[in-house]
Amino acid sequence: MIVTIDGPAGAGKSSAARELARRLGFRFLDTGAMYRAVTLAARERGLNLADGETLAKLVAEIRVELVGDRVMLDGQDVSSAIRKFEITTAIHYAADNPAVRRQLVEWQRAAAARENVVTEGRDQGTVVFPDAECKIFLTADERERARRRHADLATRGETIPFDEVLANQRLRDHRDESRPVGALTKAADAIEVSTDGLTPEQVVDTLEKIVRSKQ
Ligand code: DC
Repeated sequence: MIVTIDGPAGAGKSSAARELARRLGFRFLDTGAMYRAVTLAARERGLNLADGETLAKLVAEIRVELVGDRVMLDGQDVSSAIRKFEITTAIHYAADNPAVRRQLVEWQRAAAARENVVTEGRDQGTVVFPDAECKIFLTADERERARRRHADLATRGETIPFDEVLANQRLRDHRDESRPVGALTKAADAIEVSTDGLTPEQVVDTLEKIVRSKQ
């Protein structure tokens, strides 16, 4: 079974999807982490992210794996490094690059080929798994999402002004919704869930009910 969870940045997709996968005994795929790892790889090599061909070449050379909760880049654990604000603000180069998207979509489909998965991202229910049995579109109020992201960065030791986090999020929302390939949109057969006013546990309860109703 494939469960897709798409939605804007900061809607709470990752933590909800991770816990949902744990409850169901499914594999969890954090596809945003893959775009983050490509961005980190380019940065570490000092590459020009704006050069599409260079990024396309890079993605053909590196290996990105999701192993349990860890994100591995060429065998190295980069789970923390990919969450830095500096990576988040530069991620659009990888996310907008058609060759990068093609490769990552391939990796995502391969990961779901032999297992039940809960997969989380922007294009999972639309482009990557259009035939998924259960599709969820997770949303939340814009300021609430920025507040969560701001708090998340603070717990990782990065103190970024709230207004800067909000401004970056608006830009990212706009880019996520308007990119020519893999844009964020709600699949026609997706169920929309707003996380506003719900505790993390209530969110997972809601999602679990939806999945169980489709099993
Ligand atoms: O969910 P996240 O914040 O880790 O995602 C980081 C970026 O990666 C996001 O701004 C858009 C991009 N992304 C994407 O284009 N497609 C996906 N399936 C997942 C993420």
